[in-house]
Amino acid sequence: MTLTAKSVARVTLVSALLTAVAGAAIIGASPASGAASTLGAAAQQSGRYFGTAVAAGKLGDSTYTGILNREFDMVTAENEMKMDATEPNQGQFSYGNADRIVNQARNQGKRVRGHALAWHSQQPGWMQNMSGSSLRNAMLNHVTQVATYYRGKIYAWDVVNEAFADGSSGGRRDSNLQRTGNDWIEAAFRAARSADPGAKLCYNDYNTDNWSHAKTQGVYRMVQDFKSRGVPIDCVGFQAHFNSGNPVPSNYHTTLQNFAALGVDVQITELDIEGSGSTQAQQYQGVTQACLAVARCTGITVWGIRDTDSWRASGTPLLFDGSGNKKAAYTSVLNVLNSGTNPGPTSTTTSSNPGGGGCTATYSEGEKWSDRFNGNVTVSGTDNWIVTVTVSSPQRIIATWNTSATWDSANVMTARPNGNGNTFGFTIQHGGNWNWPSVSCRVG
Ligand code: G3I
Repeated sequence: MTLTAKSVARVTLVSALLTAVAGAAIIGASPASGAASTLGAAAQQSGRYFGTAVAAGKLGDSTYTGILNREFDMVTAENEMKMDATEPNQGQFSYGNADRIVNQARNQGKRVRGHALAWHSQQPGWMQNMSGSSLRNAMLNHVTQVATYYRGKIYAWDVVNEAFADGSSGGRRDSNLQRTGNDWIEAAFRAARSADPGAKLCYNDYNTDNWSHAKTQGVYRMVQDFKSRGVPIDCVGFQAHFNSGNPVPSNYHTTLQNFAALGVDVQITELDIEGSGSTQAQQYQGVTQACLAVARCTGITVWGIRDTDSWRASGTPLLFDGSGNKKAAYTSVLNVLNSGTNPGPTSTTTSSNPGGGGCTATYSEGEKWSDRFNGNVTVSGTDNWIVTVTVSSPQRIIATWNTSATWDSANVMTARPNGNGNTFGFTIQHGGNWNWPSVSCRVG
């Protein structure tokens, strides 16, 4: 018996959210009492992070560092981990500025996104004129050396950055790396996995926000292909640099959802939106809601702290003004993060198992909180049941009732009667993954 999928409807609600509908009501409002007062803490309520790009040269600026330490729980080096910064001469690695950022972040209990191991741009001079197998080997050595140096310290690496062409082709961008062979991207991912098996490995690009764009479709097909062939990819980064010529698309949620459905995390990695006032605030709100509506959208990073820190400062695209004051866009993002706007538990492959001799297990939703939800299973057909409950990572079952439970693995619980009837329950700490568990039943 398949279960009711009422909660799925909640996800579809969000597809309308980037139209101007949601806007004005929450912009400018103060956080509700009990709500988190910083971006990072607010994001953590749904198991997500809120990060920023950091420049090593600004760490001595106390206004900058004060906002960084207070507001953000994930850090990306804006330029200091790029190929030209970390391997200025072939075989000679330079980590000083990158280390300053990584150490500052980790000392403050923040995590780090690594950006970026392989890219056609920002290559050191010695690499720019290389080609063929010597370039391929140099690139792979770079990936291996840098990922090994930072092994265990990086939450997610942008393994390959911006490898797809703009425009209508949907294909790869021409570059010296592309000319070493179409498999250069998967080769980079395999090298990164070997060097740091604990880091999530991402493909990262811009202009991939609109689901109907050829570039988005091209990246989607590559990720689909990688997943089908076992190429180690864990996540897709959407840079999300928006302005009036490249506005937040109305189908943004669809894009994030469709990539997530391939079995990867999605992350908004370099968010900035040119503009000001309530217009800018509404667009930030829409992007934040789109992420919260996708269970596997694990976090948002803005590309800088104050407007004056931005690579396009004249567009005032960030959440703090040049003096470090919170803008309307800041408040709208914080309020969305605090609003609990999330899809709620989502129906997946929940099953019963009549093959076990007429035993049926039915899952139903219980209460929901920002970090956990309850579920109940009712068994019919026998009083002598054995029910297997499987949750998906990073979920964990942290409490059970009306059952005697044993564990086959961290994700798989076996439940048996404990004299309290044929309905039992459990609490799942979801870590941002709102999928329902799958349940199956057999007669004991
Ligand atoms: O530090 C030097 C300085 O000493 C020198 O005087 C000055 C003038 O030449 O240049 C300074 O370096 C600049 C660096 O930013 C630091 O400010 C580089 O020229 C400049 O090219 C570099 O721009 C960066 C750009 O990537 C190119 O790597 C931006 O800061 C950075 O925000 C931007 O970030 C990229 C992401 O990595 C990928 N996605 C797009 C995003 C925006 O372009």
